Amino acid sequence: MSIAFPDGFSWGVATSAYQIEGGRHQDGKGESIWDRFADTGRMPESGDIACDHYHRWQEDVDLMAELGVTAYRFSTAWTRIIPDGAGSPNQAGIDFYSRLVDELLRKGITPWLTLYHWDLPQALQAAGGWLNRDTVDAFVRYADVVSTALGGRVKNWITHNEPWVASHLGYGTGVFAPGIDDLGSALTAAHHILLSHGRAVPVLRENSQGCEVGIALDCRPSQPASADPADVATNRAHDGFRNRWFFDPVLGKGYPTDITAMCDERSVFEQPGLPFLRPGDLEEIAAPLDFLGLNYYTGVEISEGDEDGMGVVLPEGPNQPDGYTEMGWEITPQVLTDYLQHLDEVYRPRSIVITENGASYSDGPDESGVVADHRRIAYLDQHIRATAAALAAGISVRGYFVWSLLDNLEWTSGYKQRFGLIWVDHATGRRIPKTSYYWYRDFIRNASRLSP
Ligand code: FCB
Repeated sequence: MSIAFPDGFSWGVATSAYQIEGGRHQDGKGESIWDRFADTGRMPESGDIACDHYHRWQEDVDLMAELGVTAYRFSTAWTRIIPDGAGSPNQAGIDFYSRLVDELLRKGITPWLTLYHWDLPQALQAAGGWLNRDTVDAFVRYADVVSTALGGRVKNWITHNEPWVASHLGYGTGVFAPGIDDLGSALTAAHHILLSHGRAVPVLRENSQGCEVGIALDCRPSQPASADPADVATNRAHDGFRNRWFFDPVLGKGYPTDITAMCDERSVFEQPGLPFLRPGDLEEIAAPLDFLGLNYYTGVEISEGDEDGMGVVLPEGPNQPDGYTEMGWEITPQVLTDYLQHLDEVYRPRSIVITENGASYSDGPDESGVVADHRRIAYLDQHIRATAAALAAGISVRGYFVWSLLDNLEWTSGYKQRFGLIWVDHATGRRIPKTSYYWYRDFIRNASRLSP
């Protein structure tokens, strides 16, 4: 028996602006916190050129059309649309995305637009970034500008990508832009990001009649490494800070009280309680959504001492043992099925879309120019089957997006981590579809059926 997906299921690929566009100084674009992070030597490589998608976008849309995807998830760079974050919109930046959207529609590909994939305007960072509640207003205005311009044509909106990463890696550990390392700051930034999400939802609905709105939450589903109470307690804290802190308020449950109690015990803030929380905020954050976006890569086991980290993750690089990708992430497809089931049971979202899933492997072209990335095919096959298992259990999963269309700038890991279905020569910009690209194309063409 083969596995079939319902008609109308969205098969897509995902990218983000800073990771693919380049065109850093083009047409009035402003500086973002990632431009600044790269300029100050915090990354091995910058996104100044990236995949040069800013100039090669037509070729990239052609590649998507040949791939046969029905949906493309991309992000707009706030700094192209409003270069200083809060001032005048930049028509040239809007026009770039407008042309992209028109071309996608012409080719029968539905645009899924993410407003924020971490590239905050540096001018807003200078005023505190996500620590400053005014950034919420700036984001809502940005959402208004983008949806006024594109709302008639774009009908699928994602407010934020992975607020945990933006807040905890950006403000909690400082390994990502803007590079601040303080837990209280991470929680403050997370709150403002979530509030800006909730406040943008009605604006998007107003400007884009009949649209569908969601958010892309990342997750690290976890379980304790043993039954030892110390591992169990650490796992609970990990799950609380990493997962529940985001899923709970977005889906109407407020902040998890075990974790707020932990913040009090640890004196994360000067006074007990959450100083950033104002009356009405939680109601706004819980704005009803059409879909919950889930970015899934791996599940982890947590032992005492791992709480704020990512569980056991191997150092990045090639030559990982079987069962791990080159990010050092364990391949755990069953956890995806289990987590979809968990989300459905606990939160009852209207529907779920897998907004990112994929694997980093550095396979490059052989002498005949073929990129035989069979490990990526195996990863995608396993995770699509895991998605099918959730559907079979009655969970409303409506789409699946491979991360990523192109080998792109993997943030602080630079260009060596390759997630693309298409191999990119970063010196020349040349693109070569990998074997996984043809595999995904045939899978979509074949009425989205997987053989047993
Ligand atoms: C996610 C990000 C995406 C990419 C993948 C590998 O956390 O949303 O930009 O870096 O991981």
